[in-house]
Amino acid sequence: MKTKKYNVIDQETGRLDPTIYCDPDIYKEEMEKVFGRAWLLIGHDSLIPKPGDFFHTYMGEQPVILSRDKTGQVNAMLNICRHRGARVVRTDDGNCKSFVCPYHAWTYGLDGKLEWVPGEEELYDGTIDRAQLGLKRARVATYAGLIFATWDQQAPSLEEYLGDARWYLDLEFNRSAQGTKAFGPHKWVIPINWKTAVDNCSDWYHVPYSHASAANALTRIMGAPRMTSDVLWKKKGRAAFVNGHQVAFFRLPEDSFDGNPYGVDSTAENHREAIERLGELRGDGLMLGTHSLFPNTVLGFRIVIPRGPNETEFWHFSMTNAADTPDKQRAVALEHAAQNGAGGHFESDDIDNWSQVSSSGKYAGAREIGQYVNMGIGNTHTDDVFPGQISDRFVTEQNHRFFYNRWEEFMNADSWDDIPLDPMKATFEGTASMDG
Ligand code: FES
Ligand SMILES: [Fe+2]
Repeated sequence: MKTKKYNVIDQETGRLDPTIYCDPDIYKEEMEKVFGRAWLLIGHDSLIPKPGDFFHTYMGEQPVILSRDKTGQVNAMLNICRHRGARVVRTDDGNCKSFVCPYHAWTYGLDGKLEWVPGEEELYDGTIDRAQLGLKRARVATYAGLIFATWDQQAPSLEEYLGDARWYLDLEFNRSAQGTKAFGPHKWVIPINWKTAVDNCSDWYHVPYSHASAANALTRIMGAPRMTSDVLWKKKGRAAFVNGHQVAFFRLPEDSFDGNPYGVDSTAENHREAIERLGELRGDGLMLGTHSLFPNTVLGFRIVIPRGPNETEFWHFSMTNAADTPDKQRAVALEHAAQNGAGGHFESDDIDNWSQVSSSGKYAGAREIGQYVNMGIGNTHTDDVFPGQISDRFVTEQNHRFFYNRWEEFMNADSWDDIPLDPMKATFEGTASMDG
């Protein structure tokens, strides 16, 4: 590796350089070195269930068509026409037999192959090599119905990329053989840097303050004690860190927030199935709290899409259990939207904080003093039962330090050869797999 260009987080003191939120050159580099290399969550199987279905999505800032072709295979293709660069698809989703560019009608198959060029013989004299002019394709892989893609042919497999974080993600995404169903997305744009939103979604420190009224209303509905700092600081729960991903998790039933031993949205019936699929400990004894996947996936299924150094688009999907009745799914989707949708109780509390943190790097004084994410320094360890680097508290700023360390690793690397992966150690009991 060349000399380390970025050294933005001091792991000894927790000092973080806020320049990384504002600098346009750093942002441009992130689009190549982070979003050009990482596996990015871009959709869900349930958004494109049938052959011919497509869903328009983004990898970083780049527009992408996600499609299911006639063979059932899922494709991710840059939505830029190979002729003059017009957007081929201009709707959010739909079903079609082929993609026709509205500018001069070059026509692509569901897998991105160039199928037809107007005037191929008469105007181009038969010189067009259609095999070379398909839409640019990304590598695609799925985990339990979640669709990921990467532009980097050298990237490790999705399984290695998620690593032992999957052991925890299964608690939410892999409980049922019928899988999950995504509703949405709600979309909205706010004036923040994308990293602020990601690091915040595993920040429980702000919850009893920024979200005092929302949290109290929610716990009152659940019949649980008020979520004051007093309650939260004493609450048990842990966090694990793998490859820059973060998961907070709770032992059941004693650490459950709502008193439901199976966790929110779970029933005795799907609980039995979860034990079969995930084994006793994961199916019966643990609940997933917040999580973030490096670089830009947070909470249940939310994508943080960069739109500029201080502009970010949010896509919020509600995840439901595919085995549930439509009524139950609707109730879950509405509840998720009320909490974290565009006008959700928690969302409106967060935006102003994120905007101010993001813009702090514009000021010389702020760059001089830096930010401090020093809570819990030195308090991680490895464990025989729980994979990853473990923190015995879930209210901690370990997540920030791991996240920005991962950001440095991506930004300082010349290629994937320079980006380390944590060794995979987890034992996956039960029948659930990457395929669901
Ligand atoms: S730009 Fe697409 S056909 Fe010309
Ligand atoms: Fe928040």
